[in-house]
Amino acid sequence: MPQVEEIRKEVDELMPGLVADRRHLHEHPELGFQEFETAEFVRQRLEQLGVEDIRTGIGVTGVTGLITGTKPGPGKNVLVRADMDALPILEENDVEYKSQNPGVMHACGHDAHTAILMGLARYLSDNKDKFSGTVKLCFQPAEELPPGGAQAMIKEGVLNDPPIEAVFGLHMANQEQVGKIIVGSGPVMAAADGYTITISGKGGHGAYPHGCIDPVIVGAQIVVALQTVVSRNTDPMDSAVVSNCVFQSGEAFNVIPDTAVLKGTVRTFKPETRDLMEKRITEIATDIATALGATAKVEYVRGYPPTVNDEAMTELARQAGAAVVGEENVVTRPPAMGAEDFSYFLEEKPGSYFFVGSKNEEKGFVWGHHHPKFDIDEESMGHGLTAMAMGVLTYLED
Ligand code: NI
Repeated sequence: MPQVEEIRKEVDELMPGLVADRRHLHEHPELGFQEFETAEFVRQRLEQLGVEDIRTGIGVTGVTGLITGTKPGPGKNVLVRADMDALPILEENDVEYKSQNPGVMHACGHDAHTAILMGLARYLSDNKDKFSGTVKLCFQPAEELPPGGAQAMIKEGVLNDPPIEAVFGLHMANQEQVGKIIVGSGPVMAAADGYTITISGKGGHGAYPHGCIDPVIVGAQIVVALQTVVSRNTDPMDSAVVSNCVFQSGEAFNVIPDTAVLKGTVRTFKPETRDLMEKRITEIATDIATALGATAKVEYVRGYPPTVNDEAMTELARQAGAAVVGEENVVTRPPAMGAEDFSYFLEEKPGSYFFVGSKNEEKGFVWGHHHPKFDIDEESMGHGLTAMAMGVLTYLED
């Protein structure tokens, strides 16, 4: 095992730079597939560090680079990924590094992920003699914007050249106190699908419903019946969510409209449950519409697959986390229904996606991800970087 104290000491020296980078990125957030300035900032930093084979424009704005160790050894290839995109949110924090791009905000911590990966690049560049093999740095666009940047980068061959054998990624976690590291084996995040149901009826005067086919009534029954897909069709020991979040119809209080549109999100872990959701949602919507004399068109769109961590790689992440924050501060993560496109990397290669506590009540960093007041305790970046460096070096060693 590499010596965690040595890594920590160097990371502590890198911290002012990490904080400056994160704040620069926070001030200049860019939405998914538009991270042009962010990508250029990353490219310049990698170039300064002498990173090899820097490539840009992968999956629109993705950036990759290679760092090869000089120590004799097995010579494996591992990829570490950071997402770079921000969200369409107007920042409400009053800080000196507040977003300069109104309506766009790093409200999920991807600024920290990018800064940490640049920090890892610096650490590894300074310590090439301490490892054998190659680390591929992968700065990914558009995690927040399905179909997302991961799939696009994989299609463009980010896992080849050199052939990648394992992958790591991390995410800030404002639901956990700074100083905690959160790991989980197997499925940790869900598959995220979406549906749109377009109901066509026949509009008319609200006082004469018998001459109409009311799509609002049809939609209301479909919304209620969709809740039975989880409660009556899914194994109670399995997990799934169907949330109908949009019901749009009508304009006037006395006019029965022609159409209604329903939209919702569907979360699952197992492929067979995912298939069941698509089948039952389609059947319920079309058959209820038919029974009531209307028609329903169902569009079911599959989004990110479930995020499934490899057991051995997660054990490695757990050990790395324990070395950094202590065994007692490593939290086992139960699966959650959020989604993440690192899942595409994990479909291709064994890996682990872990979480780094970034909440600090005393300092006021208490707001959740995607909130306009979201901010992190930057100390978390030091824990994240040290754990990542530890995990990568340990993986490359054996
Ligand atoms: Ni995120």
